[in-house]
Amino acid sequence: MNNQLFETAKILIQDHPTQLSVYANLASLIYGELPNLNWVGFYLNDGNRLILGPFMGKPATTEISYDRGVCGECVRKRHTVYVPDVHLHPDHIACDAASESELVIPMISNGVLLGVLDIDSPKKDRFDHNTIKTIEKIVEELVNVVDNIPFFK
Ligand code: SME
Repeated sequence: MNNQLFETAKILIQDHPTQLSVYANLASLIYGELPNLNWVGFYLNDGNRLILGPFMGKPATTEISYDRGVCGECVRKRHTVYVPDVHLHPDHIACDAASESELVIPMISNGVLLGVLDIDSPKKDRFDHNTIKTIEKIVEELVNVVDNIPFFK
């Protein structure tokens, strides 16, 4: 566990005027604090597909259907999907050609899938057990509060 990252994330999650602002701050925090990342962001579930939310990194695809990409796989499986080498994944959607490994974590609140947190790295096999557990704990903390606050206003 990266306790410092988790504790800072908790503070950002607790200071929560809107979902949008929490997502934006968490994307920035993770992107800034963990080395060797090139994209960190949220894809939000509108009930029919995933829609691009707040992120750090290069512009990315704005819609992902549930049957496409690593993000879609995460939605279908409803658990964390870690791809150590995106070039070996049969349906990886390349938003940034620099990406080599990818971690996607589902955001599930009371059984409802709110979206996914998607993290890309320019290094193969970037995500160790410790990092994955830390990000999963941050998402767990996030989904505990995010459903009770307005999305924007
Ligand atoms: N690689 C993702 C698409 C989103 S970008 O990485 C930002 C996927 O395969 O679903």
